[in-house]
Amino acid sequence: MRLDVVTIFPGYFDALELSLLGKARQRGLIDLRVHDLREHAHDRHRTVDDTPAGGGAGMVMKPEPWGEALDGILADGRAAAGGDADPDPLIIFPSPAGDVFTQSMARELAEESHLVFGCGRYEGIDQRVFDEYAARGRVRLVSIGDYVLNGGEVATIAMIEAIGRLVPGVVGNPESLVEESHEEDGLLEYPSYTKPATWRGREVPPVLLGGNHRAIAEWRREQRVERTRRVRPDLLPRERPARHAADE
Ligand code: ADE
Repeated sequence: MRLDVVTIFPGYFDALELSLLGKARQRGLIDLRVHDLREHAHDRHRTVDDTPAGGGAGMVMKPEPWGEALDGILADGRAAAGGDADPDPLIIFPSPAGDVFTQSMARELAEESHLVFGCGRYEGIDQRVFDEYAARGRVRLVSIGDYVLNGGEVATIAMIEAIGRLVPGVVGNPESLVEESHEEDGLLEYPSYTKPATWRGREVPPVLLGGNHRAIAEWRREQRVERTRRVRPDLLPRERPARHAADE
């Protein structure tokens, strides 16, 4: 999977050299390229923002550097695809005004061969940038939640991590992806324990040490339902309590 990121803070993305995604990059499963928007601002101060048309607080990102940066990435993507692969990447602009990012969106985006992330700062990017690329291809505004960040970088890192780990081969044991929160049946994960059996007077639940795999599976399922009911009742489909009672 190819990922391009346009930002005025390339340093944020150093974090993606670490851990699982860093390894996936080394192994060639993820080709992440980070582009400094300021390389495409050609005045002496490499200016990327200006005052809002019509007045108001804050600054707006100018369209010209974005146009040059995105045109370059799209042209490079087309050249790299050599005409035979899908030359139409999806451009994602992280924005609190976008569709909310979920595990199901992560699964959908993990099927893409090329994603481009445009990280806005300040009061946002000139609307004509979205309009231009939406007219020429696929553009999505995506929010990672109902709160406001200072820019799209942290949101992009969150999305790349959630999407990247779903790319085949990135997570060593694909089974470990199945039982996680928000996967499989939309329930939260069960609590996990390891050795020692007692720590500071706190015991590992005895059922987990008994070796009865059926009982363990039942206990975990109950924990998932109970935890979801307590923390995120909005995730429980209406029929789940009845179905669950019948299952047991
Ligand atoms: N930029 C600022 N806030 C954001 C959010 N909640 N999600 C995505 N991008 C953002």
